[in-house]
Amino acid sequence: MAEKRPTALITGASSGIGAVFAREYASRGHDLVIAARRTDRLDALAAEITSAHGVKVRVIASDLSVSGAAKRLATAVGKTSIDVLINNSGWGHIGAFAAEDLDGMANEINVNIVSLTQLSRLFVAPMIERGRGTIINIASTAAYQPVPNMSVYAATKAYVLSFTEGLWGELQGTGVTALAVSPGGTATEFFDVAGGRSMGSALMTPTQVVTTAMSALDAKSPAPSVIVGAANRIMAMVGRFVPRRILISVAKRLMKSGRA
Ligand SMILES: NC(=O)c1ccc[n+]([C@@H]2O[C@H](COP(=O)([O-])OP(=O)(O)OC[C@H]3O[C@@H](n4cnc5c(N)ncnc54)[C@H](OP(=O)(O)O)[C@@H]3O)[C@@H](O)[C@H]2O)c1
Repeated sequence: MAEKRPTALITGASSGIGAVFAREYASRGHDLVIAARRTDRLDALAAEITSAHGVKVRVIASDLSVSGAAKRLATAVGKTSIDVLINNSGWGHIGAFAAEDLDGMANEINVNIVSLTQLSRLFVAPMIERGRGTIINIASTAAYQPVPNMSVYAATKAYVLSFTEGLWGELQGTGVTALAVSPGGTATEFFDVAGGRSMGSALMTPTQVVTTAMSALDAKSPAPSVIVGAANRIMAMVGRFVPRRILISVAKRLMKSGRA
């Protein structure tokens, strides 16, 4: 009998980085479960991937801002064992905190933190039981310092980084690994949703993000986290030694100039 293919569950595969992760895992012989709200986009991606790679792709409609969404998604996944979970769904809003919409902030926190954490919890236990598995959580370079005018978003990503690195520590010796991936500004629909300026030529591509994540995971001993891009890695390292008030002022200036 043919060996069963491993399965990757990817949230937010309807655009940007998530769609590239879906293509990457399919090219590596994984069946996929792809989830997001825009199922028309997911259906189109599923058709493209099935014809290109001959793997099975299941589409699940999921709004991760809603209470109980993670549990519903896990229930919809059902008996399929998930070998790779990619918590990629996420969004942020650019603007003064004092003018933030209360429901919008709750939505952002639910998608970026609550559902990501609950999905990690729901899928990590069976992974540990099987003695193998990978959880990739998409953080951001915004995780490495506060970002004025994107204070909530940066705080959610600081959570994702800290949570994922803590989980990585817990998983040592289980055969399961967790990786936080921190892209800088990337050319996706992110800035349309965020309501801010994109950074033009300074943007990296979603393919660069996925390539960096895969190289980190392919390493002999995968690290707890990876930052995409040499300049971003240097910035994060330097930031650890810079007084906080200076770091925050620099982040504020970069946000204003559209280069954060
Ligand atoms: N682009 C950047 O500059 C950048 C930098 C650092 C980190 N990131 C992070 O990278 C990840 C992917 O973003 P991207 O850059 O690829 O942006 P994107 O093209 O806007 O993709 C965001 C994805 O998240 C999904 N999503 C948003 N709200 C959702 C909800 N309520 N329920 C379920 N899914 C939801 C979207 O799907 P639907 O709208 O179809 O639901 C979409 O597939 C995010 O976590 C983002 O924070 C991006």
